[in-house]
Amino acid sequence: MPDKPFLTDIKTLRERARQHMEQGAVTPAYKADRETVCKLLNEALATEIVCILRYKRHYFMAEGIHAKSVAAEFLEHANEEQVHADRIAQRIVQLGGAPDLAPDTLTTRSHAEYKEGEDLLDMIKENLIAERIAIDSYADMIRYIGEKDPTTRRLLEEVLGQEEEHADDMKTLLEVMSPK
Ligand SMILES: [Fe+2]
Ligand SMILES: [Fe+2]
Repeated sequence: MPDKPFLTDIKTLRERARQHMEQGAVTPAYKADRETVCKLLNEALATEIVCILRYKRHYFMAEGIHAKSVAAEFLEHANEEQVHADRIAQRIVQLGGAPDLAPDTLTTRSHAEYKEGEDLLDMIKENLIAERIAIDSYADMIRYIGEKDPTTRRLLEEVLGQEEEHADDMKTLLEVMSPK
């Protein structure tokens, strides 16, 4: 027997769209557990904010012969983490949740740590570690969401791609700074 060309008939789709209009973009067809997704996104948001703060600190504190180019890289990453944070916060709101930006609990909710680093080399290492943590936790979230929320999944995949670039950038800097 051939597959049905469309999964839900038009009448049902239209009726469902009229129900629970206050839920905005979240329709009854939403397959994921909204609360859990918002909780995970809030952890990601805390992680991004801590990463912004760490990169900003490193940007202002970078010293030494390689400082200028390395600091420029730190600033670029800080700005990209800010874009990630904003996109994640926006998605939380879209899902009917609220972004948690409470500063008091930020470091306990974040997956990555705020490490100041002793010197330029140390800062690069700390950033590489934080990026590797972010990569692992985004990969976990993507696996959890699976096919249940394609929009959140796409967002997380895009962010993950950039975290991988960040990790790669830090690895390159590490090689430049400590030649064999
Ligand atoms: Fe990020
Ligand atoms: Fe990053």
